[in-house]
Amino acid sequence: MAKRKEKTAEGGPRAGFWPLCAIAFPGDGSQARGVKSNAQRALRPLSRRQAMKLGLAGLVGTSLWPGWRSLRGGETGRPGFSFVAVNDTHYATARCGDWLRGLVKQMSTHAGIQFCLHLGDLTDLGKREHLIAVRDIFKELDVPFQAVPGNHDYVATDDRRPYDEVFPARLNYHFKHDGWQFIGLDSTQGQRYENTRIQPATFAWLDANLPSLDRARPTVLFTHFPVAHTVKMLPLNVDALLERFLDFNLREVFSGHYHAFTECWHRSAPLVTNRCCALVRDNHDGTKEKGYWLCSAAGDGRLTREFVGYRGAAPG
Ligand SMILES: [Fe+2]
Repeated sequence: MAKRKEKTAEGGPRAGFWPLCAIAFPGDGSQARGVKSNAQRALRPLSRRQAMKLGLAGLVGTSLWPGWRSLRGGETGRPGFSFVAVNDTHYATARCGDWLRGLVKQMSTHAGIQFCLHLGDLTDLGKREHLIAVRDIFKELDVPFQAVPGNHDYVATDDRRPYDEVFPARLNYHFKHDGWQFIGLDSTQGQRYENTRIQPATFAWLDANLPSLDRARPTVLFTHFPVAHTVKMLPLNVDALLERFLDFNLREVFSGHYHAFTECWHRSAPLVTNRCCALVRDNHDGTKEKGYWLCSAAGDGRLTREFVGYRGAAPG
């Protein structure tokens, strides 16, 4: 299968057909893997064969492909805005509260952020009092707090009642902001952390709601589990999720769960995971940095992000 590598209008790489990924694999000595190795494990939902199944083969690789709309600029006609995205805070003790209050204090120094995405694992054990603590700490940011659950936000194997009660309607949902649309999805299967499957309720929500969304609008997904095939611990049926966004103007997918920076390009959209921002948990790649994304969504449909490190307010 032919592969090609191009530059996007944003200056980042885009795989013409296969994704291009940058990922650290702890233990195997590699810090970056190029197109060839990743192509062997490429994003199957983006294959020509599957596009043909969807009746979109004629659009693949041509300027008619919907994703190309995002490269033309002038998409929303608005000045743009900024937001933060954080994952895997794993609140477990009062000391974690001190840590997170320091985090929120640091986040509040970024002028003009409009909301905060939390990519799941708000807590370590899914306890109601811990979820309430996280909710109340992030209230200090004084912007909407848009969360999705992680596997650690279950209080028992398949029991997510405390999360559902403390964060109502924060499972599968979407919201619009200044011409962009953001879609939060539940990617969990109870407390399971690997070899999981995204549950039928998420797909049912997608099938009921995606038809009413604007496919041309710059779109951001956020999930707990990663969605790129190169990243460990992704759901077994992740292809079925990405297939549903094949003709959306997808600009970014933010995920957590794998506590490390990874980036895999899906056409013009990066699929990223980030280091955790927890006091009691480490990164899976052995790195020490904790932090979050500071993001800027421009009116022309471009999204930029930078990692902001957090040294923490951990008490001695
Ligand atoms: Fe986590």
